[in-house]
Amino acid sequence: MRLDKLLANMGYGSRKEVKGLLKQQAVTVDSVVVKDAAMHVDPVKQDVSVFGDRVEYVEFIYLMMNKPPGVISATEDKHDKTVIDLLDPLAQHFKPFPVGRLDKDTEGLLLITNDGNLSHNLLSPKKHVPKVYYAKIDGVVTESDIEAFKQGVELDDGYVTKPGHLVILKSGEESEIELTIQEGKFHQVKRMFESVGKTVTYLKRLSMGSLKLDEELELGDYRELTQEELDTLMNRE
Ligand code: URA
Repeated sequence: MRLDKLLANMGYGSRKEVKGLLKQQAVTVDSVVVKDAAMHVDPVKQDVSVFGDRVEYVEFIYLMMNKPPGVISATEDKHDKTVIDLLDPLAQHFKPFPVGRLDKDTEGLLLITNDGNLSHNLLSPKKHVPKVYYAKIDGVVTESDIEAFKQGVELDDGYVTKPGHLVILKSGEESEIELTIQEGKFHQVKRMFESVGKTVTYLKRLSMGSLKLDEELELGDYRELTQEELDTLMNRE
């Protein structure tokens, strides 16, 4: 990888600012001062240092965001702010993307990474990764909804869902529920409730596989996954 790209990606400024560092003779590769921005380096095998401090090279970034309402789960959008716009420039350098989609008005757990393999594994229908949602429902949620979701319900396009696990937290004119599903069809939770004549008025994702939303995160905030969270998510604990 080019030296200037590596340094820019690792947060040492723009390519132009990195050129300034090289000019100042602040950068060494295997202890030799280097001024050539285009030099190819292997950041794993070679010791790249700036002002004597070794550059810690990481290829992948794994962030947990508490997605706020009003932003789109995409990398770019012509009209709206995206979850990527909420990241600082250093994180954006890694070219991360959200793993799956939450609707614009949905809040809660969103994993953002540039690790395509992990993303694929979490989203693959074959892997049956459970996702848990909390929702407020306009209408009385009943035992028969629990049974219907357990059997699978028919959505507006004729698709019959796989079994979902519905727990009623509060039943009344406005009910509160937790729903676990292993699929991710477009607007799935909202459409499942529509199929039983009810409307989701608030939706928040609580977990995806082993990864649970850190409730300390304010809406719009994010943090890196801990090593333990990452290992568990990748099944290498
Ligand atoms: N189901 C929905 O209806 N919306 C989401 O954002 C996620 C799941």
